[in-house]
Amino acid sequence: MAVVISLLNHKGGVGKTTSAINIGAGMVELGKRCLLIDLDPQANLTVSLGISRQKYTIYESLRGESDLVPYTAKDGLDIITSTLDLSGAEMELINEAGREYILRELLTTVDDDYDYVIIDCPPSLGLLTLNALTSSRYVYIPLQTEFLALQGLAKIKQVIDKVKLRLNKKLELGGVIATMYDSRKVLNRDVVETIKKYFGQKVFNTFIRDNVALAEAPAQRQDIFEYNKRSPGAKDYLALCKEIIERTKLEVEA
Ligand SMILES: Nc1ncnc2c1ncn2[C@@H]1O[C@H](COP(=O)(O)OP(=O)(O)OP(=O)(O)O)[C@@H](O)[C@H]1O
Ligand SMILES: [Mg+2]
Repeated sequence: MAVVISLLNHKGGVGKTTSAINIGAGMVELGKRCLLIDLDPQANLTVSLGISRQKYTIYESLRGESDLVPYTAKDGLDIITSTLDLSGAEMELINEAGREYILRELLTTVDDDYDYVIIDCPPSLGLLTLNALTSSRYVYIPLQTEFLALQGLAKIKQVIDKVKLRLNKKLELGGVIATMYDSRKVLNRDVVETIKKYFGQKVFNTFIRDNVALAEAPAQRQDIFEYNKRSPGAKDYLALCKEIIERTKLEVEA
């Protein structure tokens, strides 16, 4: 059974999608099989990998019209794609019994095929995000090392605690990923210190540096390992993947 991880922060533009893609690709570099789920109606993950509109996306699956239909981006890396239509899903599923558990149920049919499932959440805390959290063993929070990074975090913690209590006892805050880090900026260093005070050991030792290659790769429809294997971005995401493997070793081996 795969270890399911949600990348969550309701603040926009903090590096959720960039992290989902490049953790997935980094895991493949390390010989793991990975499924990425694009759970965001913006479909940034799908578009960044150059995947055109598929007949069956996460939207059709959540509506009960199809099983999950993975698209193979490369050997070891599959994607459940998204589409703008997904923006209607929260309203459409409002009267559905067990609506918080739809993704979890869908995943049971595919999760044996992978070591890791990584879910890219939208920047909101609605029904789609609840579906991600009920399906996950761990939540990782990407945090941009800028002023206001910590604003709103109390809300995320509250949501995680509620989901844990009511919907998914196994859910844990498994890690905090510092993104877009620039060690030359005093502010970035200060924010990292504050994040560490707040989250302690949960903060991954690897910081994802501010690296233009990470922003350029999606324009070429590539992950960072395809775009530039020697870039700081590739090195950082590979190091992060090694840490994730270490942290989740027991579950993967089980
Ligand atoms: N480490 C980095 N260095 C430089 N640019 C980055 C880095 N990480 C992400 N970016 C860029 O920052 C922007 C926001 O990143 P991303 O789309 O991953 O955030 P997000 O949290 O998924 O956003 P949203 O909430 O809208 O889904 C993108 O243009 C991305 O290319
Ligand atoms: Mg995103």
